[in-house]
Amino acid sequence: MMTIPAERAFQLIENIYTSVMMFDGTLRLTAINPAGENLLSISSRKVLGHTAYEIVPDSPGFADMLQRALLAKRSFTEWGMNLKLGQGRLVCVDAVFTPMLDDPEGEALIVELIDVQSFNRARREEHLSVLHEAARKSLQGMAHEIKNPLGGLRGAAQLLERELDGSELREYTRIIISEADRLRSLVDRMLVPNSKRTLSHVNIHEVLEYVQSLVVAEADARLRVERDYDPSLPPVQADRTQLIQALLNIVRNAVQATGVGGNITLRTRIKRNCTIRHRHFKMAVQIDIIDDGPGVAPEIEHDMFYPLVTTRSDGTGLGLSIAQSLVRAHNGSIEYERTDGKTCFHILLPLNEKS
Ligand SMILES: Nc1ncnc2c1ncn2[C@@H]1O[C@H](COP(=O)(O)OP(=O)(O)O)[C@@H](O)[C@H]1O
Ligand SMILES: [Mg+2]
Repeated sequence: MMTIPAERAFQLIENIYTSVMMFDGTLRLTAINPAGENLLSISSRKVLGHTAYEIVPDSPGFADMLQRALLAKRSFTEWGMNLKLGQGRLVCVDAVFTPMLDDPEGEALIVELIDVQSFNRARREEHLSVLHEAARKSLQGMAHEIKNPLGGLRGAAQLLERELDGSELREYTRIIISEADRLRSLVDRMLVPNSKRTLSHVNIHEVLEYVQSLVVAEADARLRVERDYDPSLPPVQADRTQLIQALLNIVRNAVQATGVGGNITLRTRIKRNCTIRHRHFKMAVQIDIIDDGPGVAPEIEHDMFYPLVTTRSDGTGLGLSIAQSLVRAHNGSIEYERTDGKTCFHILLPLNEKS
């Protein structure tokens, strides 16, 4: 049998998605990994040495199960167990209880918890993202195919226009040229995320200020953009241009949704111990783009990140799809939330601990 050296085992447990806890024979917590702290919203410093009854006081059934596994001296799984946590939070978990029968330090028990809802959500999102990526790839292939003949078409129309000097027929060549240009700019937008990434230390606030200045310049003077920044935010390893593009797409949508006199808030926060698309990160940057518009239309709520989905007559439906691929290329995620009459797009970008 292969055994994993203790240090590697520790790294393994620290970085996995499943929450792992260890209790001694008196049901006191002796170890917990970051995923566990995250799931139960507790800090290991505060709960180590406390009993299972003290850690989840509102769900004594949890501690009873630990007791049961210890007494029975065998492992068992409880599916879909509801754990009541602080502030009325409820999580549904699949739990595996495994007593360690010949531990030299006495009785011990390992508990593995999987957050069912977030696991299912992550799986659904992953599935959707594969579909989005496939749709985007075929669109990009098509965009490339359109681009070349379009150049020829425009060139020929220009030649023709010269020949038609002074003729009324030039009106038609103008239309060909301007429509070819419109198509070309659409095609170019479809191709954006293919560009290579150049990573550097990016100051998120500087990028947000830049995006803000662009939309204010484009929009009605009555547009109000409030900023609620966390000044302690460290720089992010990212491609600045791509980040600007992603944020601009989302902020522009917010401006279009709120209309005249709309309020938009750009908020930044540090998030500790968070899970982004199945991966655990010690720290991440959260960027929230909030508007007080009517929210995303219910009929597209589930596919708004899909390319070509739009409710606007002059929309392309590419903004969110591109923003999502760019953020995902940075190992991040975008989520939509509608609460208290506010529309919110949350972007999470993991922080490289060394940066
Ligand atoms: N902040 C928002 N509030 C309301 N609806 C939104 C918001 N952001 C996006 N949407 C909806 O999502 C659709 C898709 O957005 P997007 O991909 O940027 O394409 P486009 O802006 O070209 O329509 C929009 O047409 C709109 O219906
Ligand atoms: Mg848009």
